[in-house]
Amino acid sequence: MRSGGAPAPESVLDPHERVDLAELLAESGLTDLLTRLDRELVGLRPVKSRIREISALLLVDRLRERFGIDTARPNLHMCFTGNPGTGKTTVALRMAELLRLIGYLRRGHLVAVTRDDLVGQYVGHTAPKTKDVIKRAMGGVLFVDEAYYLYRTDNDRDYGQETIEILLQVMESNRDDLVVILAGYADRMDVFFQSNPGMGSRIAHHLDFPDFTVDELVRIGLLMADQLGYRFSGPALPVLREYLERRRGRPLFANARSVRNAVERARLRHAGRLLAAPGLVGRAEVTTLLPEDLLASRVFETGSAR
Ligand SMILES: Nc1ncnc2c1ncn2[C@@H]1O[C@H](COP(=O)(O)OP(=O)(O)O)[C@@H](O)[C@H]1O
Ligand SMILES: [Mg+2]
Repeated sequence: MRSGGAPAPESVLDPHERVDLAELLAESGLTDLLTRLDRELVGLRPVKSRIREISALLLVDRLRERFGIDTARPNLHMCFTGNPGTGKTTVALRMAELLRLIGYLRRGHLVAVTRDDLVGQYVGHTAPKTKDVIKRAMGGVLFVDEAYYLYRTDNDRDYGQETIEILLQVMESNRDDLVVILAGYADRMDVFFQSNPGMGSRIAHHLDFPDFTVDELVRIGLLMADQLGYRFSGPALPVLREYLERRRGRPLFANARSVRNAVERARLRHAGRLLAAPGLVGRAEVTTLLPEDLLASRVFETGSAR
């Protein structure tokens, strides 16, 4: 009997029986999900291939189970490292959905938390707080952003230690139908695992989210605009690229998140521009972003700090 929330297998298949894998794949909805993932997320090649590997393992695992092969439930706790805006939260959401489709998780929702949601301010507050969050996350994914803040090197009485111990327990007892994903900057996460080897040893998959190239940032911008029902005019395209090249070198640059902000600001300027010279407008005007919608950004001021 399999532990956790996976549905009980139908009656065990006869050893001579054959199963159509293509059909199984299509039925699971997995092919659809992976196609969407490829289309809607720019770049992230290593992350995507890892997701494919994990889903293949789980699907074959489920099939083996139908043949009555007793498979240990694989450990799927993960660590996502990368700079801000590289897609960690977005991929965690997709991962949760995928794990539900495949029957590994019952609910497939994502509970995203940081230290403040888990650790209390006073004696006795931390354990109930952490357990409450875990309870909410059961059947889904618990996403701990900037997980290293749970551990304070300068204070061994820090309440974060209590949270770490509870998490360790929950992550170990595979009976719980919960996947924990720890996320944050790669270097700080390394230090965290050095100080908390128990945590490191419970993580099965380390996924690194690289910074996007300028080409990828441009593609992300086009995709985001498209999803919002906008397009960049021909002359606006090189301006978008120039904008992203400049923005990438500035402080507080946050990869795809900065692209989203840029598109949102371009939208604001576009609307302002239309209303500043009210006239007859058609579909083209209300959907097309022009160079000036980007050029007004401070990023184009020479010598400006941001
Ligand atoms: N590969 C990608 N392709 C397109 N959009 C992306 C990609 N990665 C992230 N985004 C978008 O960028 C924003 C920030 O992503 P997020 O997952 O919150 O990053 P992180 O959690 O790493 O800080 C979101 O709006 C998300 O939709
Ligand atoms: Mg995030």
